[in-house]
Amino acid sequence: MRGPAIGVAVLTMASLTTGANALSAAAPAKIIIDTDPGTDDALAILLALNSPELDVKAITVVPGNVTARQGLQNALQVVSLAGRCDIPVAGGAQHPLTQKLVTAEFWHGRNGLANIELPPPQCAADPRFGPDLIIAAVHQYPHQITLVAIGPETNLALAVSKDPSLASLVKEVIVMGGSLSGGNVNAAAEANIYGDPEAAQIVFKAGWPLTMVGLDVCNRTLLTPAHLAQLAKTHGPENDFAVQVLQFIIDLARRYGYNGTALYDPLALGVAIDRSFVKTEDMRVDIETRGEFTRGETVANRSNTVERNVPHGDRLWIAGVDRVRPNVRVAREVESERFIEFFISRIAGR
Ligand code: RIB
Ligand code: CA
Repeated sequence: MRGPAIGVAVLTMASLTTGANALSAAAPAKIIIDTDPGTDDALAILLALNSPELDVKAITVVPGNVTARQGLQNALQVVSLAGRCDIPVAGGAQHPLTQKLVTAEFWHGRNGLANIELPPPQCAADPRFGPDLIIAAVHQYPHQITLVAIGPETNLALAVSKDPSLASLVKEVIVMGGSLSGGNVNAAAEANIYGDPEAAQIVFKAGWPLTMVGLDVCNRTLLTPAHLAQLAKTHGPENDFAVQVLQFIIDLARRYGYNGTALYDPLALGVAIDRSFVKTEDMRVDIETRGEFTRGETVANRSNTVERNVPHGDRLWIAGVDRVRPNVRVAREVESERFIEFFISRIAGR
């Protein structure tokens, strides 16, 4: 069953009883996916397009895993594979706000899609600039749009900088990014934040409702060869593509001692579908942009307090403890097996 293009929740008994136990007959949630496809991005997009709880209003592309040009081509090929040319797919930023682009073909394959050659896209790109498309959609559907960012946050930063009213008009922002437990690029930084720390700083400071789906939970959603074998039992164009992508990622992960792959971007979409997959904690989170070893780190204040230092003679001393206002709902716990089975159930047979 495809995610509805007409915004009507078409729920079967099966979908009512599957893992997304927060299912209701409510209208599908309107979302925009900002993505740098990317192997796990492609899996996340297919999850979204096969979930009746979501009404994907647009897909905007940002450079990260691959260049902006390659990412747009990949996004068009994935939505074409799913037969969803009704969804606007638009390019956006061509590079990070200030730093050089760092692409990750090393992890995602030369073409960013596990070196799989999908057919040329049937769907054409929307001519609008991604950040402008985001702005227009949020004004068209005030307080209804969830922005799901699964790449560097350049497009979101450009959009909210151009139109600060977005911060009070979006329903919420969900980012796959950051970490409280160390990076995957280096000791401190997770790839999407590392890809554009200045953009992440703007996004984390914008004041909109922000949920961070970071490595702390994503790393626990380890899809193993056994899970892959389960998905390989069913067939369909999207199912078979997902199996090929996952096989590529797992084979690569195995070379670095991992027996599976984290479902980074799919989990962010999973949270947009059913928040009960994760448990969050409200925290003050700032983005380090200057540290020699920590540029791109999401620095979380777990107690939401800061000691107040004041002059005292020839030194400073602590005059008190001030509270800082949390700005992020940080995902700390995840029902990983339930999410992995849910992900497989939505892709199987498509
Ligand atoms: O750290 C994981 C993130 O970086 C994912 O979004 C993956 O696609 C890469 O962009
Ligand atoms: Ca991504």
